[in-house]
Amino acid sequence: MSNDTPERRLRSRDWFDNVERMDMTALYLERFMNYGVTPEELRSGKPIIGIAQSGSDLSPCNRIHIELAKRTRDGIRDAGGIPIEFPVHPIFENCRRPTAALDRNLLYLGLVELLNGYPIDGVVLTTGCDKTTPSQIMAASTVDIPAIVLSGGPMLDGWHDGELVGSGTVIWRSRRKLAAGEIDEEEFLNRATSSAPSAGHCNSMGTASTMNAVAETLGLSLTGCAAIPAPYRERGQVAYRTGQRIVEMVREDLKPSDILTREAFLNAVAAVSVLGGSSNAQPHIQAMAAHAGVRLEPGVWQDHGYDLPLLLNMQPAGKYLGERFHRAGGVPAVLWELLQAGKLHGDVLTCTGRTMAENLAGRETKDREMIRPFADPLMEKAGFLVLSGNLFDFGILKTSVISDEFRARYLSRPGEEGVFEARAIVFDGSDDYHHRINDPDLDIDEDCILVIRGSGVIGWPGSAEVVNMQPPDALIRAGTQWLPTLGDGRQSGTSDSPSILNISPESAVGGGLAWLRTGDIIRVDLNEGTCNAAVDEAEIERRLAEESIPETPTHNTPWEELFREKTGQLGEGGVMDFALKYRGTSRKLPRH
Ligand code: FES
Ligand code: MG
Repeated sequence: MSNDTPERRLRSRDWFDNVERMDMTALYLERFMNYGVTPEELRSGKPIIGIAQSGSDLSPCNRIHIELAKRTRDGIRDAGGIPIEFPVHPIFENCRRPTAALDRNLLYLGLVELLNGYPIDGVVLTTGCDKTTPSQIMAASTVDIPAIVLSGGPMLDGWHDGELVGSGTVIWRSRRKLAAGEIDEEEFLNRATSSAPSAGHCNSMGTASTMNAVAETLGLSLTGCAAIPAPYRERGQVAYRTGQRIVEMVREDLKPSDILTREAFLNAVAAVSVLGGSSNAQPHIQAMAAHAGVRLEPGVWQDHGYDLPLLLNMQPAGKYLGERFHRAGGVPAVLWELLQAGKLHGDVLTCTGRTMAENLAGRETKDREMIRPFADPLMEKAGFLVLSGNLFDFGILKTSVISDEFRARYLSRPGEEGVFEARAIVFDGSDDYHHRINDPDLDIDEDCILVIRGSGVIGWPGSAEVVNMQPPDALIRAGTQWLPTLGDGRQSGTSDSPSILNISPESAVGGGLAWLRTGDIIRVDLNEGTCNAAVDEAEIERRLAEESIPETPTHNTPWEELFREKTGQLGEGGVMDFALKYRGTSRKLPRH
């Protein structure tokens, strides 16, 4: 961080106070006055603060920001800045077809252009729903102007018949109950709608809550920001203080490149592990790191996360939801545990201008049912396992959601704990899965592993949340809630399925799933970190010579084509490699 010096000229002055090109300054000035800013004010050297508005009717999880932005503007104004609010590309997680994952890199590209091409000295990133968080952080890193994350906050807790029902998680659980004949469709819908009682993003520790916790852990949000429920009084207060703080950050020239170090990303990996966070954090953290110029090899998920215990008792890995998390102290209380245990880099700089350790002072929780002590966790070794083998180079398994029943059935064979073999049932995308899963001819039993391919970055395109496939109805009725699953897509962070996913390379680019056949035996060894099909090299060669890669759908839109051309595999974050070289664009002003 460099200190404020009188000589440092804000980039916005090149637009609004350009003595050499007075004609251009005049042009830039005249329209801005339409909303109450005077030319004198714009030329006075006050910092111009962008508010990247992610809320809209097409981004309902983030809609709270339309209101919150008023408080943020007040904070900016009161601290001596000028707020300029503008929309970013909307992302509607569960409505966007073929998948919202197509839009993370699109929002990223759009926001880079806005932050670079307009007179903006610092920016408030308004985050919430899954990909709205990593995409904006990626863009702020590329441009590298002072940036702060304001989360929208989770919804209030959902209740149904006296039971907590969490976003997403209730869908996956009720889907099994529906298949078992325990509830009807009307009850299914009632449960789903009960889980979403207010404005805000998902109230479980799905991808949204995970990614906002990650933003705070990275040092990009004010302390305690991430977990405040959207409708709570404190949410408006933190919006105001975020507005004040970004003005100071501009004066201090405190940029993403000062905050987003390798240590900060390792802290994020640790946090996701002890939170029981989403498996989608893996590609998003990899992508944010790449754009921040930090090489985060995919193995860090196991090396820095697997041995950590589960500390947070929140769905889907635990019992409770967002309101209790906030009341228990939120992200700082969880990070406090990691810090005491020596598992957090406390000396990293954060957006508060202080170190993470300083931010966490006095943040121990008083609710030990919700946030467990490091020495007495909900589960030991509850982080992520990274697997590889003849089917793929990279796959990840979130162990905090592996149920006791699943462990007993698949991972507890005497002498071979952590190892199982299963017969593959291979599906080509989710339509194929839905059409055939209940087909009695497939003869699916407890010794099977459900495999889905064609659901990766290129194949879908975008990479779909489909790997949490449930067993056939008949098997569920007989008491089997989960079969092992494997796939080159992702799954919802709210899912409790023990899946091996985010597989790279995917089948569409010739990964091993392309030659896998129904009936092949797959051996998974969690101790060795391997997943192999019992198919020898000669047979693989024969199949590859005989068969072509299963067909992928054609492009539907120009962006799909460009996305497929430029986007890499999930194991490395699904980033567009060519974009990485543009880090620090704000250091060179765009021409007039
Ligand atoms: Fe938007 Fe969960 S679907 S936050
Ligand atoms: Mg999702």
